[in-house]
Amino acid sequence: MKVKFIAPDGRVVEAEAEPGDSLLRVGQAAGLPLEGTCEGQMACSTCHVVVAPEWFERLSEASEEEEDMLDFAAGVRRTSRLSCQIELTEAMDGLTVTVPGESVDARRM
Ligand code: FES
Repeated sequence: MKVKFIAPDGRVVEAEAEPGDSLLRVGQAAGLPLEGTCEGQMACSTCHVVVAPEWFERLSEASEEEEDMLDFAAGVRRTSRLSCQIELTEAMDGLTVTVPGESVDARRM
């Protein structure tokens, strides 16, 4: 399966992924600037991505903890998610997300 990332400079990066992978790890492996400093502990928000609207509705809903952490993320949109909380499934083949140009580490606030 493939996942499409739109980098902060507008470049489109297509990454090869497997069901069960975390979206954060796939993005990092593809060289995108996703820090993910808390490694999926929902404590930093540096793994923030903006999901393409047509995909947002198809993902399972964000937990309350994720929503709370998204409040700290820079440049949050309606379809923002934490990429560390998205586990890929086969149905997500073609998933498209934008990586914002800036991030905030909530642990440093
Ligand atoms: Fe820190 Fe996702 S990696 S919140």
